[in-house]
Amino acid sequence: MTDQVILQAEGLKFGFPGTNKLILNDVSLSISRGETLALVGRSGSGKSTLARILLRLIKPQRGQISFNGADWLALQGKHLRQMRAKMQMVFQDPLAAFNPNSTICTLLDEPLRIHGMREVHQRAIMITQLLYRVALDPALITRRVDEVSGGQRQRIAIARALATKPELIVLDEAVASLDVSVRAHILDLLQDIQARDQTSYLFITHDLAVAKRIAHKIAVMDEGKIVEYGRADDILDDPQTAITKALIAASPRLKR
Ligand SMILES: Nc1ncnc2c1ncn2[C@@H]1O[C@H](COP(=O)(O)OP(=O)(O)O)[C@@H](O)[C@H]1O
Ligand SMILES: [Mg+2]
Repeated sequence: MTDQVILQAEGLKFGFPGTNKLILNDVSLSISRGETLALVGRSGSGKSTLARILLRLIKPQRGQISFNGADWLALQGKHLRQMRAKMQMVFQDPLAAFNPNSTICTLLDEPLRIHGMREVHQRAIMITQLLYRVALDPALITRRVDEVSGGQRQRIAIARALATKPELIVLDEAVASLDVSVRAHILDLLQDIQARDQTSYLFITHDLAVAKRIAHKIAVMDEGKIVEYGRADDILDDPQTAITKALIAASPRLKR
């Protein structure tokens, strides 16, 4: 981890149009190169909404985001497209959105094509490399989305995210539906990728045991606010808020 800040968000406010409830209320955070920030909190606390704002899928009413040195919310056109490649996402069941008949090859080819790799041969080599990087057998390329296991699906989603050489990957409950041993392998894989490429992660999870395993820092969210923020060890060893204590108590693997 270095001190180079990759993503900095300041004073984000968001409410869904036509409602007056603030879903995000003055949220600020920063993520450095090679750092994992775990965003934890109860269901409904606003984690996924924050992720969607950081990914520029929805717009905040207030606040600023700088990403990779740019004014992220102001970027448009070509600059936006280029910078979008640098921030990727992995969701809980990321392949669910695709046609189940798509092959793994098609899924990995698409981001390469969109981000300007024109040569078919070059893309084929890259697809094989991506599968190696996530420890999958390149023979999988001919398989269909509905023919691979849960753990394989998540590796494919990670490979897809890596295709554009991102600086930051936003993972929203990405290991939540995996069983414990598969989850451990995916967390190891993410750590290997980070050690090699200095990738930064915003790792959203409701499970503090997962946060302990992977995060350098933790931000605890409650009712649209970040109520606790700091080094993972400090927060887990000496939680300051009732909400953090409750999250720790709810995680059987953390209780002592
Ligand atoms: N499309 C929507 N319209 C109105 N409210 C929404 C919408 N989507 C989510 N919400 C509300 O926003 C709040 C935060 O949701 P979310 O960001 O999904 O939380 P989390 O990911 O922490 O579970 C919840 O109260 C949820 O009901
Ligand atoms: Mg969510």
